[in-house]
Amino acid sequence: MTHSTLEFTRLKPADDAALADFFASLSAGGDDRFFHPHPFTLAEAVRVCRLVGRDLYLVASRGGRILAYGMLRGWDEGYVVPSLGVAVRPEARGTGLARAFMTYLHAAARDQGAPRVRLKVYPTNHAARRLYESLGYQWQPGADEQLVGLCELASPRAA
Ligand SMILES: CC(C)(COP(=O)(O)OP(=O)(O)OC[C@H]1O[C@@H](n2cnc3c(N)ncnc32)[C@H](O)[C@@H]1OP(=O)(O)O)[C@@H](O)C(=O)NCCC(=O)NCCS
Repeated sequence: MTHSTLEFTRLKPADDAALADFFASLSAGGDDRFFHPHPFTLAEAVRVCRLVGRDLYLVASRGGRILAYGMLRGWDEGYVVPSLGVAVRPEARGTGLARAFMTYLHAAARDQGAPRVRLKVYPTNHAARRLYESLGYQWQPGADEQLVGLCELASPRAA
């Protein structure tokens, strides 16, 4: 019998239906109030899974089911510091997955030469704020109602 394990990977075209299913789980739980990097539609899942370039769209999955989704974007527009976004499937929360996945996102950003990452968060999104603060994010006021967080990434050791 094959046993499914947790995997962290970059999205690929074959993941589009699984990503659309993940988006539906966020919308059903009302998470699009706090997390709305793009529409949560099948068309958007198809688009995201076919992106090529430096921007990264990454997932944690088990047995073909996406449990967490994150992106690092801005490089393709010429920014040095990418913007990070993250969400965990509602039924997979509270198990440490976001914390582990954030470490992966930070490592992927550092691997592509980012000195730091930025993100935006609503002040009332307490779970996300607590997570980010525990990882070292520092806040500054944003241009809209969201806070802007910045996290310095450690310099890579000489390989
Ligand atoms: C924010 C989110 C990613 C956390 O995912 P998670 O897998 O439950 O988080 P973890 O289990 O890894 O917990 C990591 C930390 O988050 C914080 N946290 C998680 N759930 C929390 C809650 N209900 N209340 C307060 N803090 C919470 C804690 O600091 C926790 O660390 P601890 O367990 O050491 O106390 C998840 O709630 C989510 O996807 N929310 C909807 C999308 C979203 O808002 N994304 C962020 C947009 S800026």
